[in-house]
Amino acid sequence: MQNVDHIAAAGIAAIESSSDFNTLELVKAQYMGKTGELNALLKQLGQMPPEERKTVGAHINECKNRFQTAYNAKHEALSEAKLQAQLAAEALDVTLPGRGQNSGGLHPVTLTLQRVVELFHSIGFEVAAGPEIEDDFHNFQALNIPQNHPARAMQDTFYVENGDVLRTHTSPIQIRYMLDKKNPPIRIIAPGRVYRVDSDATHSPMFHQAEGLWVEEGVTFADLKAVFTDFIRRFFERDDLQVRFRPSFFPFTEPSAEIDIMGDNGKWLEVGGCGMVHPNVLQNVNIDPEQYTGFAFGIGLDRFAMLRYGVNDLRLFFDNDLNFLKQFK
Ligand code: FA5
Ligand code: MG
Repeated sequence: MQNVDHIAAAGIAAIESSSDFNTLELVKAQYMGKTGELNALLKQLGQMPPEERKTVGAHINECKNRFQTAYNAKHEALSEAKLQAQLAAEALDVTLPGRGQNSGGLHPVTLTLQRVVELFHSIGFEVAAGPEIEDDFHNFQALNIPQNHPARAMQDTFYVENGDVLRTHTSPIQIRYMLDKKNPPIRIIAPGRVYRVDSDATHSPMFHQAEGLWVEEGVTFADLKAVFTDFIRRFFERDDLQVRFRPSFFPFTEPSAEIDIMGDNGKWLEVGGCGMVHPNVLQNVNIDPEQYTGFAFGIGLDRFAMLRYGVNDLRLFFDNDLNFLKQFK
């Protein structure tokens, strides 16, 4: 039985060269299986003389043990390698920089709106709001703009089926607030979206205004100039900002003025309209114009945002280009 050693050596070599579990198990079956080569040797023992049988049998068992030991070692080595490969594949480098969460930012017009509201809030103005779809009464009639008044054409708007309109300005909020609250003193700042049939670099069909209103006994145009000038200088953080009240016309104020500020280019720029609330308007909301006076103004928030951030085309605010919007985070 010379070939016991050969068979065992070949088996152990095959074990050692196995590079995966599949091969390893095939090799094991080839040598140690029921009909495997090492077991086949044991079956031949029966034909041997008894004295030889004992030593040869012991030798075969010793070979089988060596084979099993080699198998165990290889099995363990393959398991270890598999584990290492898995760990490497799932490796987590905690020293890498994080992927980061992109935090959003507020739209520049929203930032502007919030700043305006904060500044008026700080001098005791309450925030008021109203619907974007308005009825003719609040958007026009109560503001002293009767049917067929030419001022309607100046604020051409989008009509909805039942005669309601997408509000053309924030002034209807004045009406709602005064009808609701009834008694002066009234001090409100009312921001919101408004709509007109307008479209160019400084006019968009949807834009934002903020309405200011102060009604109380003894309020004068001097109060309007003082409050507004102080506000706009604080808004732009420029104590020397020049503000001009240019005589104008609004049906709902008398006298009325456009408010201009001096731009860096030395040119006047309109930022809003204002005036003393017209007695007819006060009457329309059941406030006695003999007892109370008030001022109102309406400013274009998109224009304020353009000036504050140095944006020269209003339409950029509504293109929703992230490269543009990201700059205001
Ligand atoms: C009004 O809307 C008046 N309701 C303002 C007012 C309120 C006057 C209270 C008196 C008392 P005007 O149409 O001028 O006024 O608009 C006010 C401001 O809105 C303008 O100065 C401008 O800054 C802005 N604005 C007007 N149209 C557009 C537009 N299409 N796109 C962007 N901004 C606009
Ligand atoms: Mg105007």
